[in-house]
Amino acid sequence: MPIIPAGVRGARITGWGSALGHKVVTNNDLAATMETNDEWIRERTGIHQRSIGGTTAELSIASGRAALEMSGVDPASIDVLVLATTTPDRTVPATSANVQNALGLRCGAFDVNAACSGFVYALVTAHGLLAMGAQRALVIGTDTLSRIVDWTDRNTAILFADGSGAAVLEATSGPGQLVSWDLDADGSLEDLLFAELGENVQMNGKEVFRRAVRIMVDSATKTMQHAGVTADQIALIVPHQANIRIITAACERLGVPMDRAAMTIEYTGNTSSASIPLALFHAADAGRLKQDDLVLLVGFGAGMTAASALLKWGAL
Ligand code: UT7
Repeated sequence: MPIIPAGVRGARITGWGSALGHKVVTNNDLAATMETNDEWIRERTGIHQRSIGGTTAELSIASGRAALEMSGVDPASIDVLVLATTTPDRTVPATSANVQNALGLRCGAFDVNAACSGFVYALVTAHGLLAMGAQRALVIGTDTLSRIVDWTDRNTAILFADGSGAAVLEATSGPGQLVSWDLDADGSLEDLLFAELGENVQMNGKEVFRRAVRIMVDSATKTMQHAGVTADQIALIVPHQANIRIITAACERLGVPMDRAAMTIEYTGNTSSASIPLALFHAADAGRLKQDDLVLLVGFGAGMTAASALLKWGAL
């Protein structure tokens, strides 16, 4: 199990930004075109509406620009761009190439695909690069799942949506914000949630649900154990916004009360790689985080991936 060695140079988030698709789609909008209804979707998923529209590059540029502006960092001084996405705009080149150019970055840029765990994978990867000498990184999680959803399939169309969240990370002289982390995958479960090239996403929702709670709890527990902290010390948990019932069950098993969970699912739906940063930065913008709060990010997704990271908010 990887534990961050003592003395490794850390990093902190100095700016963030968010973007959603431009078109709001309510449950009633969906009920007009498929066999479903607002009450069922709210009760079974926690989703009231979602936003769709835009390409992965467009949403990434919007959130990335906001993060750069907030941090006050010169785009040309960013040393690496890591874009987490499972819905790239093209097969080649990586969508990060387009984003790098549009934002005026002059650095290495690459995509990471770990489905809904993607942002945490990207965040941990960027911390590794900063420990190796990079000074500043831009980390973005973006997905445009509406483009690979079959809009006649009520199993998936009610859940997935589009969005993006971005963070500027800057190296610090101290230990930084990342206290501990865990990245997992079980490729033997790849058939539970997949999309063939050029085709729509297919999902065994019941099986994904059943496994999701367990793998989120496993990953979050490992991350807390690495750090030597217990659930009562967590000021805010930021779970992947997939289904309110998954979030509730995972929080219950972890022993973190729901009033300490960041929630955006009601209006975002499941935005995959964007889900965790959107919920984290929504909580930060709402003033829910103070200096040195312990924040636990935890996600799961196709692959089946899981990822968690413990941050000490604002730490140097
Ligand atoms: O990022 C990871 C992404 N994936 C997930 O997180 C998916 C995890 N899974 C889920 O969130 C849930 O399994 C779903 C929301 C996909 C489905 O909820 P469920 O509680 O597992 O429903 P179900 O498939 O067991 O269906 C229960 C009933 C069935 O009717 P009967 O057989 O009881 O009469 C379904 O036919 O609900 C019916 N149903 C619906 N009714 C209205 C299924 N989907 C819908 C729907 N609207 N959209």
